[in-house]
Amino acid sequence: MRQGFLDTDGHLPDYWHDERWLSAYDQTLAQRIRWKWLAVLETLAPRWPRLHGVTSIVDWGCGTGIATRSFLGSVGLPKPKVFLFDRSSGAMRFAAGAIQKECREADVVLLKTMQIPAEPFVLLVSHVLSELDDRSFEELKKLAAAAALVLWVEPGRSLESRRLSRVREALLESHHILGPCRHQKSCGALQPGRENDWCHFFAPVPREVHQSAFWREFSKRMKVDLRSLPVAWLAVVKPQNYTGVEPHQDEALILSRPRVFKGYCRWLGCTSAGLRSGDFQKKHDKTIFEALSEPEFMTALPQNQLIRNDDAPV
Ligand SMILES: C[S@@+](CC[C@H](N)C(=O)[O-])C[C@H]1O[C@@H](n2cnc3c(N)ncnc32)[C@H](O)[C@@H]1O
Repeated sequence: MRQGFLDTDGHLPDYWHDERWLSAYDQTLAQRIRWKWLAVLETLAPRWPRLHGVTSIVDWGCGTGIATRSFLGSVGLPKPKVFLFDRSSGAMRFAAGAIQKECREADVVLLKTMQIPAEPFVLLVSHVLSELDDRSFEELKKLAAAAALVLWVEPGRSLESRRLSRVREALLESHHILGPCRHQKSCGALQPGRENDWCHFFAPVPREVHQSAFWREFSKRMKVDLRSLPVAWLAVVKPQNYTGVEPHQDEALILSRPRVFKGYCRWLGCTSAGLRSGDFQKKHDKTIFEALSEPEFMTALPQNQLIRNDDAPV
């Protein structure tokens, strides 16, 4: 199954053969996806009090329901109504059971066809962009345009990230961008000349995973580097459901992992003027050099300190 995810060029036939596959996925790949969701939700946590009127969830392409379970575990909507949609009815049934186990008060509805709810809803989407046909992708974008809040998590690969940037472009008029971007302008990764760049980050892996025999075995058999959890994500909200203003527009958000050389760091960052890159010299500022050498999830640095005239752009 994982090889299918890695090899796909954007279309993948249904692969949920039976409950065993769902269960195996849920214990392994879905847990890694949960870590990504938790990192994103934690980043967004200060914004939840500013969110109004959202009580329903649509989990599109729900699989085993890990997006909803992560969201409800972190954000905790009172008596949530959860609409599940997936082309696999087996996956929807599995997800419904798992969601109700983790959140007893959730009212879970399985959708045979996708209908846009009448009430304000949060749309959760996770790890679907590599397997959608064009019709489904268009349908999903329409659903996103109607959502009060969209939270979308994808693998940190170029294919999915650049598709997600295009979703962002489509939502720019109707929604306010909560993250990861520090600005409301067009996506810098889609500007001409940036075809080889993409917006992605590395989410933290829980410490106990590195001491776990289970995860060691998983890593060996699946050839997965447990230290690396690349993620692309997007969070947007309809202005009428949100009262916050985004601060820190003067920061550069560090993308990927800067490359560390002797005495300097080569970084790529997102700014309101587009993507910028440069070589930051350690001698200029040791604290900034260290922040670049070992960036945390969503490291952002003041542009005026990062971008110096003597840092040659690369
Ligand atoms: C990689 S799984 C991700 C599942 C879940 N969102 C997660 O993050 O673990 C992708 C899911 O999208 C579903 N899917 C793919 N194409 C779809 C389509 N056209 N309509 C509805 N669901 C689709 C698949 O059945 C699968 O459950």
